[in-house]
Amino acid sequence: MSHVMNTYARQPVAFVRGEGVWLWDEAGKKYLDALAGIAVNTLGYAHPRLTKALTERIRSGVIHTSNLWRIPDQEAAADRVAEITGLDEVFFCNSGLEATEAAIKVARKYGHDRGIAEPAIIVMEKAFHGRSLATLSATGNRKVQAGFEPLVQGFVRVPLNDLEAARQVAEHNKSIAAVLIEPIQGEGGINVSRLDYLRGLYEICQKQGWLFISDEVQCGLGRTGKWFVYQHAGFRPDVVALAKGLASGVPVGACVVGGRAKGVFKPGNHGSTFGGNPLAMTGVVTTIDTIKEEGLMDRALRVGEIIRAGLKKQNLSGITDIRGMGSMIGVELARPCGELVLQSLEAGLVLNVTADNVVRMLPPLVMNEAEAQEVLNRLIPNLKAFLVKRAAA
Ligand SMILES: Cc1ncc(COP(=O)(O)O)c(C=O)c1O
Repeated sequence: MSHVMNTYARQPVAFVRGEGVWLWDEAGKKYLDALAGIAVNTLGYAHPRLTKALTERIRSGVIHTSNLWRIPDQEAAADRVAEITGLDEVFFCNSGLEATEAAIKVARKYGHDRGIAEPAIIVMEKAFHGRSLATLSATGNRKVQAGFEPLVQGFVRVPLNDLEAARQVAEHNKSIAAVLIEPIQGEGGINVSRLDYLRGLYEICQKQGWLFISDEVQCGLGRTGKWFVYQHAGFRPDVVALAKGLASGVPVGACVVGGRAKGVFKPGNHGSTFGGNPLAMTGVVTTIDTIKEEGLMDRALRVGEIIRAGLKKQNLSGITDIRGMGSMIGVELARPCGELVLQSLEAGLVLNVTADNVVRMLPPLVMNEAEAQEVLNRLIPNLKAFLVKRAAA
């Protein structure tokens, strides 16, 4: 019996080697990875630049110092994150929930600074922001919350893509300090915000003096063809939460602030022992530089289009929607389809199912067009067999 705590429904496979977009299991079987560890392995596996940079950092002997001291790697990483986000200050942490938790704290502090006694944050139905008490309370999924009540107060939930609902809250609730949104919901089923909705929401924030917080933990960092989804909409949020793909697999998160959120946190307001350590920061610098220099955002766009178009062309009944942006791909089926994960593994393809009936693909940004075509070759026969079986049942 394993002593690993039983908190995940794991598939019976262990990957022990990787190269590019390919993984090998313990028995030597080869898999095409269309999931990237859930949007984490931006540069795929064994990318020579990342391997070299991390190896050199480890060889230097200094993988951790402390935020008691200056950390040059952290300064270099913060410069890059500030440049690609267009924001000003970066707090590094170690995960997505820490990034959104920090964003929630920024919003509350901002509210208090403006004289709101109990600041509240607008959040979205079906959102996922993490599993700490505050972030699970902000999450719009009862399954994540059940058993952990009392929830953290101060969240007002509205439906995604419904501007009127946000306007109503603005009119009636004078305690709002911020809006927290995943511009493309990942765990919730690859639900894409309309760009005019994002702009409308941003305008409400401007008018009301609220912070606009973009949780780009899953959808950010080049996956949609731009660094961040808000850049497609053409504005700059006050706070951006990042993690997952930011260091291609080295644990890291970042809460990035600008606009009205700049300067809200003062010394003593927040902290993290590991956050921003030289090892993780080497991962951040190398990941961002490589995305830029290898043109990986354009690649992500093309790969996503190939996969979506290839699936649409099949015109399969039982598929109710094919959606996403760039290499953030959701295929919604009429029925729950969790068993497709194991069937895909058998066909040598790594993907995932979220929200019960949405096949989710988040390939590494290094995937090329031939490999995208190979994803289709491995997926479509399985998908057809599944749909035929289900239609007959
Ligand atoms: C949008 C979003 N925010 C936050 C998180 C939490 O990240 P972590 O699992 O690193 O705590 C996730 C994880 O899936 C996410 O998709």
